[in-house]
Amino acid sequence: MKILFFSSKPYDSLFFEENNKSYDFELEFWETHLGPHIVDAIKPNVYDAVCVFVNDKLTAPVIAALASKGIKIIALRCAGFNNVDIEAVKAHKLRLCRVPAYSPQAVAEHAIALLLTLNRKTHKAYNRTREQNFSLNGLMGFNLYKKTIGVIGTGKIGAAFCKIMLGFGCKVIAFDPFENQDLKSLGVNYLTFDELIKQADVISLHCPLTEENRYLINASKIAIMKPGVVLINTSRGALIHTKDVIEALKEKKIGGLAIDVYEQEEKLFFKDLSGSIIDDDDIQRLISFSNVLVTGHQAFFTQEALNEIATSTLSSVSALYHQQATSNDTILV
Ligand code: NAI
Repeated sequence: MKILFFSSKPYDSLFFEENNKSYDFELEFWETHLGPHIVDAIKPNVYDAVCVFVNDKLTAPVIAALASKGIKIIALRCAGFNNVDIEAVKAHKLRLCRVPAYSPQAVAEHAIALLLTLNRKTHKAYNRTREQNFSLNGLMGFNLYKKTIGVIGTGKIGAAFCKIMLGFGCKVIAFDPFENQDLKSLGVNYLTFDELIKQADVISLHCPLTEENRYLINASKIAIMKPGVVLINTSRGALIHTKDVIEALKEKKIGGLAIDVYEQEEKLFFKDLSGSIIDDDDIQRLISFSNVLVTGHQAFFTQEALNEIATSTLSSVSALYHQQATSNDTILV
């Protein structure tokens, strides 16, 4: 059994090699993204599985090429699968697994870190005090206590985020087609999407990206939000219409934006581009705002999550390879 990894980083090989001691598969790590540019470089009939991440592009032609190379299993080492053409996977009779929940708390806690940093400007204070500048001008935030926090999507991550916000003494309102009774009993109030965005002081996105909710946050929706609303997105970049958000930041309608995901992130994130000219005016404009905070898809990045990703992925690949039953939530096709 040989697995070829794409978009591999040193921390991937560290956690996968360690967990592979229980399986003894052959693992090969490639740094490049999987996409049309590289799929022909895969040697035929050498690998049984590919293991991919959020920004690998599994389009129909890429999947057809994988099948022609003898690949039988595609293992996503992430939860979201918006980057995979599921129908093509089925058509080529490949199997597809993911890691549905490796650490909801990791992502929820990062969303909180973004919110607290953006609001209380600790990133600016850190830089100032290192320069012996102890002035408070420009560092004022607001209390989260008693503020209304709107949570879009109350699955595993959204639920963890709601519970932390309740602990802060916030009023938590939510929108999700499926209401979570546990959260309701804790005091979370479900509203329609429009009602939520009208009432919320802070809106945090925790739903998957689908064709239906692409650009969920756009100019017409921003228009009905509270002036000064703070937006947090740790889900997927295309949930937000970036140009509309930039306009709303310029008009001061949006009071703060913190994003861990970005629509064009595959060209940027997980790379050190500090010596490069970045040919993406939207990200450059976003970074230029003093009330915008960008992290490079690191919400999942904790020891616990990386360990769980490796454990779950190898277990699913093994089950699929040996045609054993496994959880439906893990096996997509
Ligand atoms: P989940 O499947 O447990 O929950 C998603 C929830 O969103 C479900 O309750 C679903 O009913 C709801 N939903 C679906 N469409 C919706 C819509 N249009 N409006 C409101 N709610 C909607 O997923 P989980 O584990 O909570 O993850 C959520 C998302 O977080 C993932 O899809 C992924 O995009 C993102 N994510 C980001 C990571 C990061 O490192 N930044 C890491 C892991 C996940």
